Amino acid sequence: MLLVPGDKSISHRYAILASLAEGSSEIFNFSRAADCASTLACLRGLGVSIEEKEGSIVIEGKGLRGWKAPRKVLDAGNSGTTMRLLAGALAGQTFDSKLTGDKSLRRRPMRRVMEPLRQMGADIRARDDEFAPLEIRGSKLRGIEYAPRVASAQLKSAVLLAGLFADGETVVEEPVRTRDHTEIALRELGATVEQAAVRDSDRRNAIRLQGRPKLVGRPLSVPGDLSAAVFFLGAALVVPGTELTIQSVGLNPTRTAILDLLVSMGAAISVVAVTMRNGELVGDINVRHAPLRGGKVSGAMVARVIDELPMLAALGPYTEEGIEIRDAQELRVKESDRIAVMAENLRLMGATVEEFPDGLRVAGRAAGQLRGTAVEPHDDHRIAMALSIAALGAAGETVIRDAECVGISFPGFYDLLDGLAELGHKAAENAET
Ligand code: S3P
Repeated sequence: MLLVPGDKSISHRYAILASLAEGSSEIFNFSRAADCASTLACLRGLGVSIEEKEGSIVIEGKGLRGWKAPRKVLDAGNSGTTMRLLAGALAGQTFDSKLTGDKSLRRRPMRRVMEPLRQMGADIRARDDEFAPLEIRGSKLRGIEYAPRVASAQLKSAVLLAGLFADGETVVEEPVRTRDHTEIALRELGATVEQAAVRDSDRRNAIRLQGRPKLVGRPLSVPGDLSAAVFFLGAALVVPGTELTIQSVGLNPTRTAILDLLVSMGAAISVVAVTMRNGELVGDINVRHAPLRGGKVSGAMVARVIDELPMLAALGPYTEEGIEIRDAQELRVKESDRIAVMAENLRLMGATVEEFPDGLRVAGRAAGQLRGTAVEPHDDHRIAMALSIAALGAAGETVIRDAECVGISFPGFYDLLDGLAELGHKAAENAET
């Protein structure tokens, strides 16, 4: 049985929304990832008191108007979710604020959130009108109907969080459905959020939020992070003979496309003990090693597996037919350019990789076994973990430079992987006796 950290996306949302609710909220299994610590640090900068306990944190909510003008610049670190969600919530305050981040975050696009927020009446300035630091003057906001061009849960959430402070109704009509943790958490805390499929479309999804709700604090429980768990699914699929169960993982249907995809490729994955907690599905995932055929991800599916694509690319050389990823330009503006960085490192390990503007194709088993070598994840946590999984089946030793960046989303990743290796050795010894 394995336990992965609390879901990063959900942890950010619970912390931000609990701080805007009335009364305290104890959040169990809150992610200890560096990204979520960045959100907590920003909230503390806004005058929110947060107690960190053994298995939970307690946030003292002061109500929708409870945040105080920050005395310092708010630092979102490496976390795009922190910056984009807080930009939305800060736009409608009665005070001014400034948001910055690390070198990687200061290179990531922010106009996508500034545009709709400005339509709502926000006053936000950015370097070259695109990049952090963001200077936000608190403004009176009005609800809008917005149809973003990019499928992004961070963008949708920024608009919805601004909508909390706006007059009237805020509607976001997304091009394809993205993770809906914000909508679920808002409902859990008492807001009115409706969701409806858009007429004449089986993909578009419209969310309506009524402005100025009263949010009420309550106990909240964060499921295990599926996007962390997938690295262990990957490990089991690379190392013959492995079987493992990952406990209490979030199974929100907007996140589980990776499971369907792996199963369609031949993976032996089953999900058991499914329950509902705070509006989110949670269950145990069992995986057994099985040969993989390979597969392709494109179109509407991309948004639903976006964080899993580096791991999927890393599985390419372990499949029969390889892995192809298309329509995934968004990968170029993540913590690193994940298309270029995966292509570069997999090639260093001996894989055959074709790079496209919107994705990559990684050749399957016939192109030869990977070789261990020194690889460079460019401080991108998901790249470091994906390359670690690729390394499990490579000949010889792989050195992952600056591998401590995994702490951005998965502190303890290498300890867990080590534990797994020990299990594997024991299973092999038992099999021999
Ligand atoms: C996230 C949304 C996705 C994802 C990121 C977390 C969120 O980003 O890649 O890791 O918590 O809303 P985009 O909204 O930019 O697609």
